[in-house]
Amino acid sequence: MSNRSLAPSFQPRNKPNLQNYDQARSSFSWQQVEKQFTWSETGKVNMAHECIDRHVEDGFGGKTALHYINGEYEERWTFDELKRQTDRVAAALHSKGVRRGDIVFIFLPKNADCYIAMLAVVKLGAIAGPLFEAFMEEAVRDRIQDCAGRFIITDPDLAVRIPRDDLPSLEKVFITASAERCRSGEISLAELVEQTTDNGFSTEWVDLEDPLNIHYTSGSTGKPKGIIHAHRAMIHQYQTGHWVLDLKEDDVYWCTAHPGWVTGTVYAIFAPWLNRATIVVNGGRFDADSWYATIERAKVTVWYSAPTAFRMLKSAGDGVLARYELGSLRHILSVGEPLNPEVIYWGSEQLGLRIHDTWWMTETGAQLIVNLPSEIIKPGSMGRPFPGITVSILNDQGEVLPNGEIGHLAIRAPWPGIMREVWQNEAKYNSYFQFDGWYLSGDLAIQDEDGYIFFQGRSDDMINSSGERIGPFEVESKLLEHAAVAEAGVIGKPDALRGEIVKAFIVLNSGYAHSPELIEDIRLFVRSKLSAHAAPREIEVIEELPKTKISGKILRRELKSREPIEQ
Ligand code: PRX
Repeated sequence: MSNRSLAPSFQPRNKPNLQNYDQARSSFSWQQVEKQFTWSETGKVNMAHECIDRHVEDGFGGKTALHYINGEYEERWTFDELKRQTDRVAAALHSKGVRRGDIVFIFLPKNADCYIAMLAVVKLGAIAGPLFEAFMEEAVRDRIQDCAGRFIITDPDLAVRIPRDDLPSLEKVFITASAERCRSGEISLAELVEQTTDNGFSTEWVDLEDPLNIHYTSGSTGKPKGIIHAHRAMIHQYQTGHWVLDLKEDDVYWCTAHPGWVTGTVYAIFAPWLNRATIVVNGGRFDADSWYATIERAKVTVWYSAPTAFRMLKSAGDGVLARYELGSLRHILSVGEPLNPEVIYWGSEQLGLRIHDTWWMTETGAQLIVNLPSEIIKPGSMGRPFPGITVSILNDQGEVLPNGEIGHLAIRAPWPGIMREVWQNEAKYNSYFQFDGWYLSGDLAIQDEDGYIFFQGRSDDMINSSGERIGPFEVESKLLEHAAVAEAGVIGKPDALRGEIVKAFIVLNSGYAHSPELIEDIRLFVRSKLSAHAAPREIEVIEELPKTKISGKILRRELKSREPIEQ
């Protein structure tokens, strides 16, 4: 099962924060970790305080907290500056009625405004709801409608994708630009902040169990569900930042995810700032040259990305790589989809570093299965359970299976990062806990005799394309809105670059004839309404969809089994 394993390799000056996995596991307690937080003494809890303000109080106000790069443009923010700006934005939002417990959506590109908005909302005790910047009108509408959202922070370009007529609950649209760039009914947050002094703003102290953020995530059925995390997740996020990201005082850390995805919130904002690291934000989309240039320019030391990105860099070729000086890098991590052994070998050979796979989910709130810098990597394995986390492989009856057998990947609940609730959907929340005391991930896996866990696929129809989670139901529903489409079944088709691509099988309405133009029109229809990442890359017209005899449900598994496996 395992390929050639890779021993740890690091410069002596970079001794890992965690040096012995077995030892840490046997003596670990989450209560010990709590001592790292100011609230363990003061009783005053707020994630934003631990990420920003406490570092200023501790004398690190002058340290660079955020380095934003977009092409030739750069911005640097110190912890001091971030404290002042998040205070002002929080005060401005408060002056317009945002209060503790309110959900505030944040629909912005990866830029400083986005990161500041996230922390300002949290400082107020409100719930931050980041939305992926590529979402189109209906993806935005479904999410805001689900929780009757009242507030959103956005910019003039993205604001046009908010269908206000369909969203009567939405009271205030804050724009991060001047008043001249606002349309009627929008509020210039930039001007409001200009007029606001930070004097007198004080952080809203909350309970550890209070809601922190909401991430909408797709499953195999229904529309996306709102996963709510609590402030207590910081305990888990801090400790994984310390041991798995291995963050140290002088690290410059770059996580490539957008905050609309859970990795872009937990491991691009919270975990690194809880560990007082300098974070790098790259404003552009994926491009091999600009990514390598970002590492070179910002002197990135720790880098967290996803298999599709590594595969794209690998296929961009060594010629591109040779143009950049990447000697600053010392630790690389991956998440979101299976990491192929060949990519790990490429990293070892071309970057001189191992790529450390990690496994977790939106619902888990932080990493649960990890490869640590001090431990052996078995390429093809996601690693071993983080200390303090118990993982088992269960059969369909919820019994623990022996090593080497494939079954349901389950985690002993609870742990500090686990979701607090699924927004107003108790049935969905309960569905994760069918077997007493276990959280069921929906993934299938095998554990070997050393405790290493190997991903084997999903037990449901959820699609994972480039590490982004896509619900087939959402795409099928959108396809059915196209006049030409009578029926639709959507699957993840195995793909060498993206892991899976979205593939749709459709039956046409009578009166429509199959043509390349029609197929392109249907694809663009989904792309422009829902989002680019959910639009089918392949559409196949068939006469009839396979369905169950009794309930008439589409048999996606059967559609999937028709696809040749491509490696
Ligand atoms: O199927 C697993 C896959 O991504 C799912 C979780 O997706 P999401 O909630 O969007 O969170 C992604 C990043 C935290 C999982 O159920 N997945 C995540 N990490 C890995 C993975 N599959 C294989 N290997 C991984 N390392």
